[in-house]
Amino acid sequence: MSDAAFGAVEGNSQSAAFKAQGRIAALVRQRAEAKAWSEAASEKEGIAFTPLSPAIGAEVSGVHLSEPLDEARKAVLYDGLLEHKVLFFRDQDITTDQHIAFARRFGTLEKHPFAAVKEGYPEVIPITHDAENPGRENAWHSDVTWRKEPSLGSILRLLEVPETGGDTLFADMYAAYDGLSDEVKEKIEGRVAIHDFAVFRERLKKRGASEAEIEAFNREYPRVEHPIVRTHPDTGRRGLYVNVAFTEAIRDMDDLEAQPLLRHLYGQAAIPEYQCRFRWRRNSVAFWDNRCTQHYAAADYWPRRRVAERVTIEGDAPY
Ligand SMILES: [Fe+2]
Repeated sequence: MSDAAFGAVEGNSQSAAFKAQGRIAALVRQRAEAKAWSEAASEKEGIAFTPLSPAIGAEVSGVHLSEPLDEARKAVLYDGLLEHKVLFFRDQDITTDQHIAFARRFGTLEKHPFAAVKEGYPEVIPITHDAENPGRENAWHSDVTWRKEPSLGSILRLLEVPETGGDTLFADMYAAYDGLSDEVKEKIEGRVAIHDFAVFRERLKKRGASEAEIEAFNREYPRVEHPIVRTHPDTGRRGLYVNVAFTEAIRDMDDLEAQPLLRHLYGQAAIPEYQCRFRWRRNSVAFWDNRCTQHYAAADYWPRRRVAERVTIEGDAPY
């Protein structure tokens, strides 16, 4: 790949870096002037939202996940999710059944075909890391985009938290799209990317899955195509929808052109102005909208232990 081609997707030259810097600053000014970012705390139906950053994330108080949630309060929470993209709750000493019941209020629960589940709870994925099993969710991604209908969102509770480290970072993929140069926006307009569960296929192989088992998974979860720019079904806003964990290629585009372009797009989630970073405590809960965010679990706490449980809500086909 020549320097000129890298330049075309704003690679690593100093002038490209300055251009990107200027564009991000302009986007921040624009959002602030349009009040498009929710920087102010708000409260409705006794539920308060305190933003973590101008772009994304709010800490929620006035609701305990163990309580039955009436329609009005559920609507406030869902509207809060649409606005802030990820909600955080503290001190949620809830049972697994309460975790599931809360998630069910927002849709049908998803069963992950590759992840081990909690005994007796097929909808609950335990995520445990320690000295023998270091954290590995440390790549920017949105969940299960190798599905035809990737999840609406996930609700993750931390049961054990290391003294320090183990934060999760979230990125606003609307901002990631809005901040692209016009040239890149034009390049990806109407384009479709191919997603695959390659990461899990490798793990299955390592765990000793047979060729026939892998083939069966390949048939059940063939590579899928999703638009590079996804329209959120509830907000109508457009966000960048490719990720380094599961996106493989761009349909009808040669890899020589597509791969540098994809790398550039993946890199947008890593821009701090589009992010928030959540410091977990025991019984903290995060509820993210998987349709307009990406996340990255910092794997900086080895050899300490971090234990989480995730319940995931089914989504619909991206368009
Ligand atoms: Fe994830």
